[in-house]
Amino acid sequence: MKIRAAISASAAAPFEIAEVELDEPRGDEVLVELRAVGVCHSDLTMKAVWPDAISPIVLGHEGAGVVLAVGADVTRARPGDHVVLSYRSCGSCPECTTGHRPYCRDFRTLNGIGTRPDGSATMRRNGSRLYGSFFGQSSFASHALAYESNVVVVGDEIDPVVAAPLGCGVQTGAGTVLNVLAPPPDASLAVFGAGGVGLSAVMAAFASGVRTIIAVDPVASRRQLATELGATGTIDPAAGDVVEGVRRLTGAGATHAVDTTAKGAVINTAIKALAPLGTLALVGIRIPDFAMDVQSVMSGGKTIRGVIEGDAAPHEFIPRLVELHAQGRLPLEKLIRRYDFGDIDVAFADAANGRTVKPVLTQMN
Ligand SMILES: NC(=O)c1ccc[n+]([C@@H]2O[C@H](COP(=O)([O-])OP(=O)(O)OC[C@H]3O[C@@H](n4cnc5c(N)ncnc54)[C@H](O)[C@@H]3O)[C@@H](O)[C@H]2O)c1
Ligand SMILES: [Zn+2]
Ligand SMILES: [Zn+2]
Repeated sequence: MKIRAAISASAAAPFEIAEVELDEPRGDEVLVELRAVGVCHSDLTMKAVWPDAISPIVLGHEGAGVVLAVGADVTRARPGDHVVLSYRSCGSCPECTTGHRPYCRDFRTLNGIGTRPDGSATMRRNGSRLYGSFFGQSSFASHALAYESNVVVVGDEIDPVVAAPLGCGVQTGAGTVLNVLAPPPDASLAVFGAGGVGLSAVMAAFASGVRTIIAVDPVASRRQLATELGATGTIDPAAGDVVEGVRRLTGAGATHAVDTTAKGAVINTAIKALAPLGTLALVGIRIPDFAMDVQSVMSGGKTIRGVIEGDAAPHEFIPRLVELHAQGRLPLEKLIRRYDFGDIDVAFADAANGRTVKPVLTQMN
């Protein structure tokens, strides 16, 4: 079928929105008409580093929309269902079967090779192959082909503009707090980077009653938003020593921390700002090689662990997030600014320059 898609040809080129041909759904595929798609920082990073060898590509991995058709093997979704799209997983490897789907052994093949796992492309333009299958969706488009493992039925009460970011950024920030760090009420959590992921961590910590929540970000409007969402203290890294700032607000340091900046210097600051036996979750992607402050990790008995997608299984976790939102405990609207699909370059620029925390594209047709 003919669809509209935003094509990324190279790091420097703006998106080109064009008509392209999308396959009919195969047996295991779900055809979704997209109503909204969030922009995650990972889209910015991937647009900048995506290999020329598998370009041009359609990115986008926070889609929300309505199911139009399903393949013969699909049981989880039906035409008419309102859905959020997340990442794909195989469901049968040891990590998937023990509830840690983001560490699926086939994660890369299912989410990041630009084609289906069998090497076939789902889209063509003027007869030439167009890469896609990004996070099993490629949702910078009017329609996407998704799969049972990444289609989550959410009901029609939640606005797709609000639901879209649940698929990655919100799941990641909230899941890192709720599923991985699980700070008790008397904990202190320091969040480095108050963007879409960091502020989702702040909201989840506040919703779970954590007493001390600190947000560190150079952008004043983001620190202000963090306070509105439940942060009990904020720190401007340009205004002085961040480690001292965290100690002032916590005493011995933060018991838990999250890095969403993917900057080596910030990660070392986060390590230093931990209390003895504290845990830092690394969430920012494409962290450059850097000299980690191993001495601080050793002498303080600290734990550093990576987290993908909040260690969340989308079919269980996203409905929980929808419920938290319905209860008013996940006020995502405060993070979101809407953009017409045609303004995707503006949305990307605003995400990069700090103007918008969570751009969400609409009017996909
Ligand atoms: N691990 C995962 O599964 C996963 C999932 C989604 C996103 N990500 C990654 O998480 C990161 C955050 O994504 P996002 O969408 O929230 O991005 P974002 O750009 O909205 O947020 C990053 C924030 O870091 C802040 N920052 C920059 N320099 C800083 C400094 N020195 N100290 C403190 N804060 C600083 C920025 O102002 C910004 O607010 C990205 O690297 C993204 O690729 C990872
Ligand atoms: Zn798996
Ligand atoms: Zn993402």
